[in-house]
Amino acid sequence: MTDKGELFEFLMKRVGEIVSNRDSEENKLKAICKMLKDNISYYDWVGFYIVDKKRQDELLLGPFVGQPTQHVRIPFGKGICGQAAKLRKTFVVQDISKETNYLSCSTKVKSEIVVPIFKNEAIVGELDIDSHCLSPFTEEDEQFLRKVSAMVSGLL
Ligand code: SME
Repeated sequence: MTDKGELFEFLMKRVGEIVSNRDSEENKLKAICKMLKDNISYYDWVGFYIVDKKRQDELLLGPFVGQPTQHVRIPFGKGICGQAAKLRKTFVVQDISKETNYLSCSTKVKSEIVVPIFKNEAIVGELDIDSHCLSPFTEEDEQFLRKVSAMVSGLL
Protein backbone atom coordinates (compact mmCIF):
# COMPACT_ATOMS: atom_id res chain seq x y z
CA MET A 1 0.00 0.00 0.00
CA THR A 2 1.19 3.57 -0.71
CA ASP A 3 2.14 5.94 2.12
CA LYS A 4 -0.95 7.95 1.29
CA GLY A 5 -3.10 4.82 1.39
CA GLU A 6 -1.75 3.95 4.84
CA LEU A 7 -2.38 7.47 6.12
CA PHE A 8 -5.94 7.40 4.76
CA GLU A 9 -6.58 4.03 6.39
CA PHE A 10 -5.36 5.38 9.74
CA LEU A 11 -7.47 8.53 9.38
CA MET A 12 -10.53 6.49 8.50
CA LYS A 13 -10.23 4.68 11.83
CA ARG A 14 -9.99 8.06 13.59
CA VAL A 15 -13.12 9.25 11.75
CA GLY A 16 -14.91 6.12 12.99
CA GLU A 17 -13.86 6.89 16.56
CA ILE A 18 -15.01 10.50 16.32
CA VAL A 19 -18.36 9.51 14.76
CA SER A 20 -19.11 7.11 17.62
CA ASN A 21 -17.96 9.30 20.53
CA ARG A 22 -20.43 11.07 22.83
CA ASP A 23 -19.91 14.60 21.55
CA SER A 24 -22.56 16.70 19.74
CA GLU A 25 -23.00 16.23 15.98
CA GLU A 26 -21.58 19.70 15.37
CA ASN A 27 -18.47 19.06 17.46
CA LYS A 28 -17.90 15.72 15.75
CA LEU A 29 -18.08 17.30 12.29
CA LYS A 30 -15.70 20.05 13.37
CA ALA A 31 -13.28 17.50 14.88
CA ILE A 32 -13.27 15.59 11.58
CA CYS A 33 -12.50 18.80 9.65
CA LYS A 34 -9.63 19.57 12.02
CA MET A 35 -8.26 16.06 11.89
CA LEU A 36 -8.24 16.07 8.07
CA LYS A 37 -6.68 19.53 7.82
CA ASP A 38 -4.01 18.78 10.45
CA ASN A 39 -2.95 15.47 8.90
CA ILE A 40 -3.06 16.09 5.16
CA SER A 41 -0.60 18.79 4.15
CA TYR A 42 -2.47 19.94 1.04
CA TYR A 43 -5.93 20.18 2.70
CA ASP A 44 -5.98 23.89 3.57
CA TRP A 45 -9.70 24.46 4.16
CA VAL A 46 -11.98 21.61 5.18
CA GLY A 47 -15.67 22.10 5.77
CA PHE A 48 -19.18 20.77 5.49
CA TYR A 49 -22.05 22.34 3.61
CA ILE A 50 -25.47 21.12 4.68
CA VAL A 51 -28.65 21.15 2.58
CA ASP A 52 -31.06 23.68 4.09
CA LYS A 53 -34.02 21.75 5.51
CA LYS A 54 -36.34 24.70 4.74
CA ARG A 55 -35.01 25.35 1.22
CA GLN A 56 -33.91 22.05 -0.23
CA ASP A 57 -32.16 23.71 -3.19
CA GLU A 58 -29.65 25.64 -1.08
CA LEU A 59 -26.56 24.71 0.91
CA LEU A 60 -25.69 26.25 4.27
CA LEU A 61 -22.15 26.43 5.61
CA GLY A 62 -21.70 23.98 8.48
CA PRO A 63 -18.66 23.21 10.65
CA PHE A 64 -15.35 24.04 8.98
CA VAL A 65 -11.66 24.64 9.73
CA GLY A 66 -9.67 27.27 7.83
CA GLN A 67 -10.19 30.87 6.81
CA PRO A 68 -13.73 32.23 7.23
CA THR A 69 -15.67 32.33 3.96
CA GLN A 70 -18.33 34.74 2.70
CA HIS A 71 -20.12 31.82 1.02
CA VAL A 72 -22.38 30.81 3.89
CA ARG A 73 -25.38 30.06 1.62
CA ILE A 74 -24.94 28.57 -1.86
CA PRO A 75 -27.84 27.85 -4.26
CA PHE A 76 -27.73 24.49 -6.07
CA GLY A 77 -25.96 25.01 -9.42
CA LYS A 78 -23.72 27.86 -8.25
CA GLY A 79 -19.99 27.40 -7.84
CA ILE A 80 -18.33 24.03 -7.48
CA CYS A 81 -20.36 23.23 -4.35
CA GLY A 82 -23.65 24.12 -6.02
CA GLN A 83 -22.82 22.10 -9.13
CA ALA A 84 -21.85 19.05 -7.07
CA ALA A 85 -25.16 19.31 -5.19
CA LYS A 86 -27.24 19.75 -8.34
CA LEU A 87 -25.55 16.92 -10.25
CA ARG A 88 -25.19 14.74 -7.12
CA LYS A 89 -21.60 13.92 -8.02
CA THR A 90 -18.05 14.46 -6.81
CA PHE A 91 -16.33 17.47 -8.34
CA VAL A 92 -12.55 17.53 -8.56
CA VAL A 93 -11.12 20.80 -9.86
CA GLN A 94 -7.34 20.50 -10.05
CA ASP A 95 -6.91 24.11 -11.24
CA ILE A 96 -9.66 26.53 -10.24
CA SER A 97 -8.38 29.17 -12.70
CA LYS A 98 -9.85 26.94 -15.44
CA GLU A 99 -13.30 26.66 -13.79
CA THR A 100 -15.75 29.37 -14.85
CA ASN A 101 -18.55 28.45 -12.40
CA TYR A 102 -16.54 29.07 -9.25
CA LEU A 103 -17.05 31.01 -6.00
CA SER A 104 -13.74 32.32 -4.73
CA CYS A 105 -12.96 32.28 -1.02
CA SER A 106 -9.27 33.14 -0.97
CA THR A 107 -6.69 34.05 -3.61
CA LYS A 108 -4.42 31.35 -2.16
CA VAL A 109 -6.75 28.53 -3.22
CA LYS A 110 -5.66 26.69 -6.37
CA SER A 111 -7.76 23.53 -6.35
CA GLU A 112 -10.88 22.07 -4.75
CA ILE A 113 -12.69 18.77 -4.25
CA VAL A 114 -16.34 18.50 -3.27
CA VAL A 115 -17.93 15.16 -2.31
CA PRO A 116 -21.69 14.85 -1.83
CA ILE A 117 -23.10 13.23 1.31
CA PHE A 118 -26.19 11.07 0.83
CA LYS A 119 -28.80 9.76 3.26
CA ASN A 120 -31.29 7.24 1.83
CA GLU A 121 -30.17 8.33 -1.62
CA ALA A 122 -31.08 11.98 -0.98
CA ILE A 123 -28.29 14.53 -0.88
CA VAL A 124 -28.03 16.00 2.62
CA GLY A 125 -24.71 17.81 2.44
CA GLU A 126 -21.18 17.93 1.11
CA LEU A 127 -17.60 17.67 2.23
CA ASP A 128 -15.60 20.50 0.67
CA ILE A 129 -11.81 20.79 0.59
CA ASP A 130 -9.72 23.67 -0.77
CA SER A 131 -6.01 23.34 -1.44
CA HIS A 132 -3.24 25.87 -1.99
CA CYS A 133 -1.52 23.34 -4.29
CA LEU A 134 -2.19 22.72 -7.98
CA SER A 135 -3.45 19.25 -8.95
CA PRO A 136 -2.99 17.64 -5.52
CA PHE A 137 -5.99 15.29 -5.56
CA THR A 138 -5.69 11.67 -6.71
CA GLU A 139 -8.13 8.81 -7.05
CA GLU A 140 -7.09 7.83 -3.50
CA ASP A 141 -8.32 11.17 -2.15
CA GLU A 142 -11.64 10.71 -3.93
CA GLN A 143 -12.14 7.21 -2.57
CA PHE A 144 -11.07 8.22 0.92
CA LEU A 145 -13.36 11.27 1.01
CA ARG A 146 -16.30 9.24 -0.33
CA LYS A 147 -15.84 6.81 2.55
CA VAL A 148 -15.59 9.67 5.06
CA SER A 149 -18.78 11.18 3.60
CA ALA A 150 -20.62 7.89 3.97
CA MET A 151 -19.43 7.59 7.58
CA VAL A 152 -20.64 11.07 8.60
CA SER A 153 -23.98 10.89 6.80
CA GLY A 154 -25.76 9.90 10.03
CA LEU A 155 -24.53 13.11 11.71
CA LEU A 156 -26.32 15.40 9.24
N1 SME B 1 -15.23 27.52 -3.87
C1 SME B 1 -16.55 27.03 -3.54
C2 SME B 1 -17.22 27.89 -2.50
C3 SME B 1 -17.01 27.43 -1.11
S1 SME B 1 -15.47 27.68 -0.51
O1 SME B 1 -14.50 26.89 -1.25
C4 SME B 1 -15.32 27.42 1.08
C5 SME B 1 -17.40 26.93 -4.79
O2 SME B 1 -16.99 27.34 -5.88
O3 SME B 1 -18.52 26.43 -4.68
